[in-house]
Amino acid sequence: LTTQPHAYRGSLLHYTDDPTRDPAAQHYLDDGLLIIAQGKVLAAKPFAEASAAELALPRTDYRGKLLLPGFIDTHIHFPQTEMVAAYGEQLLAWLNSYTFPTERKFADPDYAARRADFFIDELLRNGTTTALVFATVHPASVEALFAAADAKRMRIIAGKVLMDRNAPDDLTDTAESGYRQSQALIAKWHHHHRLLYAVTPRFAPTSSPEQLAAAGKLFHETPDLYLHTHLSENCNEIAWVKSLFPEREGYLDVYDHYGLTGPRAVFAHGIHLEEKEQQTLADSGSAVAFCPTSNLFLGSGLFRLHPLKAAGVRVGLGTDIGAGTSFSLLQTLNEGYKVQQLQGEKLSAAEGLYQATLGGARALYLEDKLGNFLPGKEADFVVLEWAATPLQQLRQENSRDLADRLFALMMLGDERNVAATYVDGRQVFGAPAD
Ligand code: GUN
Ligand code: FE
Repeated sequence: LTTQPHAYRGSLLHYTDDPTRDPAAQHYLDDGLLIIAQGKVLAAKPFAEASAAELALPRTDYRGKLLLPGFIDTHIHFPQTEMVAAYGEQLLAWLNSYTFPTERKFADPDYAARRADFFIDELLRNGTTTALVFATVHPASVEALFAAADAKRMRIIAGKVLMDRNAPDDLTDTAESGYRQSQALIAKWHHHHRLLYAVTPRFAPTSSPEQLAAAGKLFHETPDLYLHTHLSENCNEIAWVKSLFPEREGYLDVYDHYGLTGPRAVFAHGIHLEEKEQQTLADSGSAVAFCPTSNLFLGSGLFRLHPLKAAGVRVGLGTDIGAGTSFSLLQTLNEGYKVQQLQGEKLSAAEGLYQATLGGARALYLEDKLGNFLPGKEADFVVLEWAATPLQQLRQENSRDLADRLFALMMLGDERNVAATYVDGRQVFGAPAD
């Protein structure tokens, strides 16, 4: 393991706050130097301001490319990788027709291990260095994912699905077995190297009140755990929750009642929220994952990004593979822009790229560790090509300014634009530089 600092020369882009609140929070260095040592950022500065000692460091030349903090995906299902683009259904039928039959295969540890390796490689190929991940109900699926992520020293957050009703028998646990299996996984993996554990009830309809209570107990009995589930994605889903929990005020109140809101609670979707639910999310410090490719693909609805942010809710971006259709956070932002347009709102490249990096870190309460190039941050970063196709090249050549170049990159870019991905200061994807 190298302790010697290493320098990377190229264009640098990062955010120290939400640029919609403070435009000066976008930091772009056309000719920058990023200095990394022992898996941490030492400095990010203009090349012209490098000291003699910094210029003497071993240096990788990424001039002409753009270095960004690694992308953060705040909602994705690793077992659903192989069923992406499943035809013709909305949420509840899609779960029965495609999702449950696929997730059944992960009872086999060897199968789970092969798929976990593929999944981690696919994240890195897309420049995603941190993700909050659903596994399946099988503990072996979580073991496989954590082992594959740990081999790359990634900061991955994941957990075993809790599901004790309204699902096929071979995909259910019980309140008691789900609690016990989660406890064992937490003891083994939570804070192992960079890994963190998320208590993961699938969504309210597939857990009994007893299981939701057990999930609340798990979430609160160990520090730094996450709570990861789905919320208000689809109108039929919401009606179903109301019929299953008539004693509760609404969908979010089910989770709130069982202690499943708060810092590090992350709810995927949150499309059809009531005013009071938005306030509960904000007041409790919970986060929501905006998953535009999924919301369009399943016909779920249009996420209200700016009202939620204005209410004080932490928002991250999610691909939601396999209901989402791309691992790329650039493609996710492309679709996110269109979701905003359909509501008469905008999504600038600055806001989008903030959301994909520091915004995601804030949603996950990891902003002290991830999300930008401030000194001491963990050295996860991605090296992007401004143009990966003739069309992208033509568009970049005809761009007006930096904002326009970044917008074209956000709209047209995808994994073809990822030249290299670095995790914990080490290159884990891409051709060797120089
Ligand atoms: N709600 C409950 N389970 C799922 C899932 O696997 N995907 C999505 N998109 N929504 C869900
Ligand atoms: Fe999901």
